[in-house]
Amino acid sequence: MKIVVAEDYNQMSRMAANLISAQVIMKPNCVLGLATGSTPIGMYNQLIEWYKKGDIDFSQVTSINLDEYRGLAPDNDQSYRYFMDTHFFNHINIDKKRTHVPDGLEPDANKVCRDYNKIITDCGGIDLQLLGIGINGHIGFNEPGTAFEKETHVVDLAESTIRANSRFFASLDEVPKQAYTMGIKTIMQAKKILVVANGKEKAQAIKDAFFGPILPKVPGSVLQLHNDVTLIGDKEALSLILDEIE
Ligand code: F6R
Repeated sequence: MKIVVAEDYNQMSRMAANLISAQVIMKPNCVLGLATGSTPIGMYNQLIEWYKKGDIDFSQVTSINLDEYRGLAPDNDQSYRYFMDTHFFNHINIDKKRTHVPDGLEPDANKVCRDYNKIITDCGGIDLQLLGIGINGHIGFNEPGTAFEKETHVVDLAESTIRANSRFFASLDEVPKQAYTMGIKTIMQAKKILVVANGKEKAQAIKDAFFGPILPKVPGSVLQLHNDVTLIGDKEALSLILDEIE
């Protein structure tokens, strides 16, 4: 595991964008596993800036997002499809047909999961998976207690996640209670994993995930078993592990 300490959010975003752009330059038709959330927004902005300068070409890239709320339409401004379109895809030359997010509107949840697993297999697996981490250690929407061997599945969101996400909705009641997520097994099958984290509220989750015991109650702890993980965090997010890595 490689841990990189960034001075601040901007530096974290630039460093993460560098790894993504290196992946795209080395393998123009690569498969990127992408994440939503507030953490990667700066990284997406940086990639857009480099794309506009002509430094990166996304025309052959395939993307597979980690997760989506169950029941939200793609044009709902809280859906993860909408997030990806507005924060990233609409501003670069990726072919939208090659951008994948679980179908929030399909009534048959098993079909959504089956189809998503097939998309991942058919495109040959994920070259580089981007992850944020929840304050409870979740990755994707794999909440504490999720079995490590799961592939794409539907989850009941933890109360703490619903509360954390409610800042994006008009009220707590409007936050969907279920979501689709790539499973931990799927995430672990990615060839490379990049975790980004900023802010002191992530410090405990980072310590538990990267230096604690490997247990389903801290989903991110499974990453210790992957052989190519890079964690890029700002000083606040890494504050509780600085002693371990210096
Ligand atoms: C997003 C995702 C989540 C977030 C995590 C951190 O697609 O799967 O696991 O990465 O909740 O979210 P932020 O970045 O908003 O703190």
